[in-house]
Amino acid sequence: MSTAVERRERLKEVYREASQCTRCALAETRTTVVFGAGNADADLMFVGEAPGANEDRGGLPFIGQAGRLLDRLLEEVGLVRGDVFIANVLKCRPPGNRDPRPSEIDTCRDYLHRQVELIEPKVICTLGNFSTKLLRDDQTGISRVHGQPEVRLLGRRAVTILPIYHPAAALYTPRMLDTLRADFALLPDLLAAPAPPQPQLDEPPEPDEQPDPALAAAAPPDAEPAPGQTAADGVDSAAGEDLPAVSEQQLGLF
Ligand code: URA
Repeated sequence: MSTAVERRERLKEVYREASQCTRCALAETRTTVVFGAGNADADLMFVGEAPGANEDRGGLPFIGQAGRLLDRLLEEVGLVRGDVFIANVLKCRPPGNRDPRPSEIDTCRDYLHRQVELIEPKVICTLGNFSTKLLRDDQTGISRVHGQPEVRLLGRRAVTILPIYHPAAALYTPRMLDTLRADFALLPDLLAAPAPPQPQLDEPPEPDEQPDPALAAAAPPDAEPAPGQTAADGVDSAAGEDLPAVSEQQLGLF
């Protein structure tokens, strides 16, 4: 658990790191890394598939036709973008909007897990097959699980997952809109319910399980990289050479 200010700062560090990412070949074809955007304190996160052409140009998620439908569906349940955080399984556009490859999903998942750990949402709506399979850690397709909330452990965080069809599906198949609306209608009650109980992972080990101090001293530091080690400089200062195309203000991280 971190304070709102710490959370924002740590999220910005992940953003700076992601905005320079070269972990996979999509770095060579993307225009912009689409980190995700919205409210860093959101109870509700949406996770789509990957940026499309509009997002790749604009640096923000869901800013095309599917995004407009997402806005409409949000509005129908009394929410606006500023209430939620929207991210994708992949932070970079696959060329020609082809499906994400398993290796790309695997390489990119660390960013999403860090976003979830920092934002600490109560509910995550997975939009479509790719995010549903990734976050449920199960290959069952969206048509079998949509509209069925369930609690899953993501990293160290228990979250209610609500799989929903990808809004783009309703652009191609208009009758899908009714299904999307019915699934969205579940959100107000899920958000009003208490957050799922969190696993007690931070309990100190039993005395006889205490690590050997000599071994602990020799072990590499876990989890957090040193500040500045991986984060790109310059996001806060207009003078930064590596200034990303999208400002933190546009991302909603303020
Ligand atoms: N589709 C997605 O899955 N994500 C976006 O950001 C845009 C379209």
